[in-house]
Amino acid sequence: MSLKNDISEVVLSEEDIDRIVTDLGETIKKDYEGKTPILVGLLKGSVLFMGDLIKKIDTHLEIDFMDVSSYVGTKSTGEVQILKDLSGSVDGRHILIVEDIIETGTTLNSIINLIKSRNAASIEIVTLLDKPVNRKLHVDVKYIGTEIPDGFVVGYGLDFDEKYRNLPYIGLLKPELYS
Ligand code: IMP
Ligand code: MG
Repeated sequence: MSLKNDISEVVLSEEDIDRIVTDLGETIKKDYEGKTPILVGLLKGSVLFMGDLIKKIDTHLEIDFMDVSSYVGTKSTGEVQILKDLSGSVDGRHILIVEDIIETGTTLNSIINLIKSRNAASIEIVTLLDKPVNRKLHVDVKYIGTEIPDGFVVGYGLDFDEKYRNLPYIGLLKPELYS
């Protein structure tokens, strides 16, 4: 039994991912040279992307991680609960948030507001995947790897029920496995 039996279609192959991440890294290097940005990875989905991306940014940078979850129940939407906060200060620093996929925009909207309130010098977002079809809140995303159509994808950090993060490429999960 192989993980690939659960995938109906490959959305991005390992080669596709490598090309996209290399291009993003070169653009980010040019934009941030001399600024020593902090790349903030959102756990856990961005871990593989973060690991590959920073190797393609050939200039000084720091990394940090944050883990948030959307509130459910009584809290209004658009707020997130911090499960793990940043380990360092963002005051006066250039922040680049690293996300695996943007769907509704809820998660990033809240994180941007939070980091703004801590006096970052600048805040931008890099996402590997953008799924604009389900967007509810507008988010300015400076760096987008690629847009994908609706459908639940897994692999390269992205999970279904905490599984499939270790698949080395991104694929559509067979709908019968999650519906
Ligand atoms: P948003 O707040 O709706 O933009 O949520 C984005 C988050 O939802 C991502 O960081 C993922 O954790 C998760 N997510 C959205 N779409 C998918 C998907 O197709 N596969 C796996 N996780 C997803
Ligand atoms: Mg996520």
